[in-house]
Amino acid sequence: MDWGLESRMARIIRPSTGRGVMLAVDHGYFMGPTNHLEVPSKTIAPIVDYCDSLMLTRGVLRTSVPASSAVPVVLRVSGGSSIIGKDLSNERITTGMREAVRLNASAVAMSIFVGAAYEQKTLVGLGKLVDEASEVGMPVLAVTAVGKELEKRDARYLSLACRIAAEFGANMVKTYYCEDFEKVVESCPVPIIVAGGPKVSEREALELVHNSVSAGAAGVDMGRNIWQSDRPVPMIKAVRSIVHDNASVDEALELVNSS
Ligand code: R5P
Repeated sequence: MDWGLESRMARIIRPSTGRGVMLAVDHGYFMGPTNHLEVPSKTIAPIVDYCDSLMLTRGVLRTSVPASSAVPVVLRVSGGSSIIGKDLSNERITTGMREAVRLNASAVAMSIFVGAAYEQKTLVGLGKLVDEASEVGMPVLAVTAVGKELEKRDARYLSLACRIAAEFGANMVKTYYCEDFEKVVESCPVPIIVAGGPKVSEREALELVHNSVSAGAAGVDMGRNIWQSDRPVPMIKAVRSIVHDNASVDEALELVNSS
């Protein structure tokens, strides 16, 4: 791995544990002002110091995160469809590589929609993004999006999507946790990061984190289960304790309940 690429990867997946906590606040790029993320600066400020990296768009980065913040940025560079539009899979690259470098991004992220109407467009887009990113030593995170078709979250489908992302050159893949997740991890030759998903109870969210890293995930990219919690700071600390300190679910939950 080239030095610049390796250095950027190390900001996202900590070499000391081989894992990372990514805080996702990119939801607005297709969902608009999501519940508890209406004013991004207010949501991000109290919790940003507890993540290893922050996943967001350039608009929210420039307007809502001080440049003095040392947080490594995973810049979402794809979009083009909204939650009320015709087809969520109709995405393309919306932010260029020079812009990513200008913003001091530690990685760029785009969604691929395997099995959806615009599968080919997003996969060819991933190949092109990897070409451009390789030129400047920028890691690419491929997000295996399932759109509204949540029934696709099984090991067979997610293994297919993650493997294709890796074959196209993604340096990391973000996907969903599912039963037999070890199979998804085993057949994907690059680190896998698990997305949090819609808000559930704090115990369920921490179980998801614990199950994911126990099955071999290199960490989580969690949003709503942190900042839609009544206790976002204790919640992200609890997530960290599982990811980096191998805390049990009960130990992590205690951090939340004792806050
Ligand atoms: C997909 O890439 C989304 O925009 C989010 O980044 C992802 O779903 C993680 O956030 P959450 O934990 O809220 O699902």
